[in-house]
Amino acid sequence: MDIDRVVVFDTTLRDGEQSPGASLGIEEKLQIARQLARLNVDVIEAGFPVSSPAQFEAVRLIAQQVRGPVIAGLARAVKLDIDRCWEAVRYAPRPRIHTFIATSDIHLKYKLRMSRQEVLDRAVEAVKLARGYTEDVEFSAEDAGRTDPGYLCQVVEAVIDAGATTVNIPDTVGYMIPEEFAALIRKLYQSVPNIDQVTLSVHCHNDLGLATANSLAGVKAGARQVECTINGLGERAGNASLEEVVMAINTRQDFMGVSTSVETTEIYRTSQMVSKLTGLEVQANKAIVGANAFAHEAGIHQDGVLKEKSTYEIMTPQSIGLERSRLVLGRHSGRHGFKARLEEMGYRLSDEMLEKTYQRFLLLADKKKEVFDEDLVAIDRLVKLPINLREYSIRAVTSGAEAMGEVTVKIDDDGAIVIGRAASTDIIEASAKAYINVINKLVARRKAAGGAGKSK
Ligand code: KIV
Ligand code: ZN
Repeated sequence: MDIDRVVVFDTTLRDGEQSPGASLGIEEKLQIARQLARLNVDVIEAGFPVSSPAQFEAVRLIAQQVRGPVIAGLARAVKLDIDRCWEAVRYAPRPRIHTFIATSDIHLKYKLRMSRQEVLDRAVEAVKLARGYTEDVEFSAEDAGRTDPGYLCQVVEAVIDAGATTVNIPDTVGYMIPEEFAALIRKLYQSVPNIDQVTLSVHCHNDLGLATANSLAGVKAGARQVECTINGLGERAGNASLEEVVMAINTRQDFMGVSTSVETTEIYRTSQMVSKLTGLEVQANKAIVGANAFAHEAGIHQDGVLKEKSTYEIMTPQSIGLERSRLVLGRHSGRHGFKARLEEMGYRLSDEMLEKTYQRFLLLADKKKEVFDEDLVAIDRLVKLPINLREYSIRAVTSGAEAMGEVTVKIDDDGAIVIGRAASTDIIEASAKAYINVINKLVARRKAAGGAGKSK
């Protein structure tokens, strides 16, 4: 079966940078653009050159320095914008001018104060002007989602005749519902006679949380370019998220019947970089790249994943560049997950000791919500002595909310058992103190034997 390729157009540096609170310096934009090239997106929209000298400079430098993807710049359908855009992108081996004008009656009446005919003429003029500079010209009908479909077809046909090579259908205000958006794309394919001469593109905003769904519906209806941003950044509620669109296409290729060229193992790194440089944190439950996207806490889920990952994972963490999924130790964790984590960390406990430790662990988890490896062996990393832990146990010595817990740590030193103990209302503190206590005893023991710190 022939699989069509979908062009991935990344607009993190243009629409994404329009996110409230996300403003990037020129160096940071270059850094992100280089990473987007490693991610192997097809097109990088590097900025809106006419909008400020810094925007211009960033687009120019990216066009000069970043190799691989097509480098696009945005321009309103006016000469000044298109000229400036060309001056900035012309250095790229494959430059693109992306020009746009709104086509919905709301925008025509209140924003542009132009008639439908005037907008159509302006669009055609802009595309022709851009084609005078480069063979790669994209036209966007801003607010296409709320544009009269018949008029949208006329505009699309006219800009294709004028030389546009990509025509983009933005749902600028995130108003569309997936079935409705798919129907619009299908209508364009059915009604615009020259539509086969261009790549039809979709650009969806997330005001109703439907940006990814609408983009996929558009692709399913035949669109072959998707515009998106890393972490779903963008105006207001953001744009379709690149990682969601790409991984949906990848994971559900059976249904979608298309592929992308994105190097998915670079997704996580790119997301982290964009988050760090924009200062916009990724929400923990964000699909694909959120901290919890590959984390399992429920005992039943942990048990399933330990037996066979595909029970609860529809894609591998490695496919997005993560080393592995995470079994979160918390109060919903079961024995299986707890034991697996301890074993990963090098602790093998007898069944009886495991049960006891698990019960103590539940006490800690109730208090702390999430128990980290560091809570189990915090101190191991600081103390450079090889330790052979035999037992770790917690005993409640008083009851009530502020119960005093006593922690006992037993280690094996060449066959001799050394015991450390401590008590506190905070189990972490008691564990740390008990551990330090046993280490002090161990050092004293070894000193007495004439070889402090000797390793086994
Ligand atoms: O959302 C939108 O309509 C846009 C266009 C400029 C493509 O970002
Ligand atoms: Zn947009």
